[in-house]
Amino acid sequence: MRRKLAAGNWKMNGTSAALSELDALARAFPSPSVDILICPPTTLLHRAAETVRNTGITVGGQDCHPAASGAHTGDISADMLVDAGANAVILGHSERREDHGEQNESVRAKARAAMDAGLKAIICVGESLEQREAANTLDIIGGQLSGSIPDQSTGENLIVAYEPIWAIGTGKVPTLDEIGEVHDFIRNRLERRFGEGVGRSVRLLYGGSVKPSNANEIFGVSNVDGALVGGASLKAQDFSGIIDALQ
Ligand code: G3P
Repeated sequence: MRRKLAAGNWKMNGTSAALSELDALARAFPSPSVDILICPPTTLLHRAAETVRNTGITVGGQDCHPAASGAHTGDISADMLVDAGANAVILGHSERREDHGEQNESVRAKARAAMDAGLKAIICVGESLEQREAANTLDIIGGQLSGSIPDQSTGENLIVAYEPIWAIGTGKVPTLDEIGEVHDFIRNRLERRFGEGVGRSVRLLYGGSVKPSNANEIFGVSNVDGALVGGASLKAQDFSGIIDALQ
């Protein structure tokens, strides 16, 4: 059985004051029956880890460098994330692919480094609106999966997040059938590449305008094991509604 996961991606949002939201979340879910992960900006990571210490919530990073250390101004290594208290890292988010020109190959190298450091890699895939309208969604996702996911992936260290780019922060959500089609496709690809055992144990998250009001129906779709949430993860009250729907 795959354990459900509610993951929050705070993106470039939050200063010290935002830690009170994390504290409120920890109080609201003293012993959650699902995994809860918050990925704050790196500046808050260590304090966030301290805030949720000994609770059912864990914290993660939003990116890491493929190298272990060295002359890479402004970058953060996977070991540094671990040292700050992270147990996971989001990689290949479409905003990084867009803002920083990240390609599948570099996402794969980052994921390798993350897994070597003991982190779970949450690898993001997703199509643009143009690609969906041209009926290229599955081709694009297939290419991102084979290009971005490293060979040493297991059901434990890999999580895949399907985030259609056009649904991120827009309030637009694919139909349940569309979500199901992509999640089934991802599951199938993982089973073919890694074998049934591993392929079936990797958790698949949906991301893109998930809110308390639509979470329940999205979580009812086959092969949706949770969500990667942006805007609605910033406030404990909103994120709690999503966690409640998942529990
Ligand atoms: O990584 C989460 C994400 O991109 C979805 O963002 O704000 O649409 O929930 P949002």
